[in-house]
Amino acid sequence: MRVAIFASADDAAARTAELIAAEIASLAAPAAIAFPTGRTPVAVYDRLAARAAEGGLSFGRVLPFMLDEYAGLPPDHPASFNAFLRRHLFDRIGIAARREGLIRGDAADPEAEALRYEAEIARAGGFALCFLGIGDNGHIAFNEPGSSLGSRSRLRRLTRTTMAANAGEQDGAGTVPDHAVTVGIGTILESRKIVLLATGAAKADAVARMIEGPVTAMCPASALQLHPRVRVVLDQAAAARLRRSEDYADPA
Ligand code: GLP
Repeated sequence: MRVAIFASADDAAARTAELIAAEIASLAAPAAIAFPTGRTPVAVYDRLAARAAEGGLSFGRVLPFMLDEYAGLPPDHPASFNAFLRRHLFDRIGIAARREGLIRGDAADPEAEALRYEAEIARAGGFALCFLGIGDNGHIAFNEPGSSLGSRSRLRRLTRTTMAANAGEQDGAGTVPDHAVTVGIGTILESRKIVLLATGAAKADAVARMIEGPVTAMCPASALQLHPRVRVVLDQAAAARLRRSEDYADPA
């Protein structure tokens, strides 16, 4: 893992946007990129949208994919992750959301929807880049603690802590659904590159377990230690519980 620690959340978001923009600019052919939801990536999406508006970045070769979606929510529900990504990213960068890269939360058979989604990711050649956040309990996408490190896309029950953390996250959100369709940890680990952004003190414990703890299903993000090309971008608050933080200070 290549870890970079920045003085502020703003600086960390700026660096993350740079890393993603560089990957997009280097695409020689259409390639799948997975984008997360949550409060953390919004500052990155603001920057990517600004660069696209200035004409400095084209998303023409990006095949956008989402990571997860609440079970039961139709794509036009304001609390759905479909709506979140449209609002914060797709509509602003002029990307047409493609059915292949979207999970239908309201699919009659969510397990079948997860299988379809896994097949769509494979058909697109896997994720060239997977942009991730991390939950307070170490989850990535909606792979909650206890998820198999080899898991594929599937229906997953959410923990109460995640439901509480996400309550009110999405504009217009009401009660948080208790299940989600999520890409698996195994799916994520097959990405060619991974960039994870974490900011704020609430993430400090999960970040320390991800980077310096044992690889364990109890901290799903720790599985990223097994991947050869992971960039972790942090602000100081999220890095506060790292024991070897002086070794990671290089923002290169
Ligand atoms: C969400 C998503 C994750 C995200 C995490 C943290 O619900 N399923 O992909 O990384 O929870 O979100 P936030 O950035 O709001 O802390």
